[in-house]
Amino acid sequence: MTGPLSDAALATELARTTRFARLRHVAECDTTQDLAASDSGPGSAVFWADHQTRGRGREGRDWHDEPGLDLAVTFRVTGLQLPQPVMLPACVPLCIAAALDHAAGTPLTVKWPNDVFARGRKLAGVLIDGRGDRAGSFLIGIGINVNRTRFPPELEATATSLALLSGHEQDRAAVLRDVAQALDGCLADLQADRTAPWLAAFRARLGLLGRPVRLQARGAEHRGTLTALDFEHVVLDGAREFPLGLVRAMHLA
Ligand code: BTN
Repeated sequence: MTGPLSDAALATELARTTRFARLRHVAECDTTQDLAASDSGPGSAVFWADHQTRGRGREGRDWHDEPGLDLAVTFRVTGLQLPQPVMLPACVPLCIAAALDHAAGTPLTVKWPNDVFARGRKLAGVLIDGRGDRAGSFLIGIGINVNRTRFPPELEATATSLALLSGHEQDRAAVLRDVAQALDGCLADLQADRTAPWLAAFRARLGLLGRPVRLQARGAEHRGTLTALDFEHVVLDGAREFPLGLVRAMHLA
């Protein structure tokens, strides 16, 4: 039986198979987003903490991890020029889902804009900082519930973890490796304009095309049948069109 992947083996594998030439793994930090932002080293790199004391979620929310059990990681990516910037938030949850279907033992779904779900419960979330300046730099923060089996009361009914889904403990370093490799492959595809498979995955994992939905955009809620969806637009009832980047939430009605 093989043991857990060591930091050294993980770093070597990432450097060999992905653009992430450097791994920094700390026991604790405020947030890996700031750890990555303050790092002066070159190129694309990975920042992993066993515990964040001020983990950040989207829209100013907090993000909690269970020390030593979950995965809090920021991928700093440089030199990333995308045909459409919204492809990044659209595709990162798809990468997580593709990387972790097997470990979860169940097909994972995504919820626009940033969540990965399993059996109707949240497994992972994504927070992306940076707007792709001239250097094309982004901080892609990913939080995954890996080995925690208990949640605080406010999350108990809505969250899950890989351990709960699979029935056994998972190697967090191997989870990180699988997500990093999926992300690297996805970014290479997007940069080369090979977007068709990602658009197909986006539609499939969202699971909303042709169904009645409610979406939040331009400060209001809109209801209708989702008749078209791509990386530019969302269309309701064949007529009402919203830029995907302006859609703040999208649910089954
Ligand atoms: C969300 O679901 O609202 C997004 C959660 C993102 C959490 C990750 S954990 C690693 C990185 N560091 C943070 O402080 N946040 C992201």
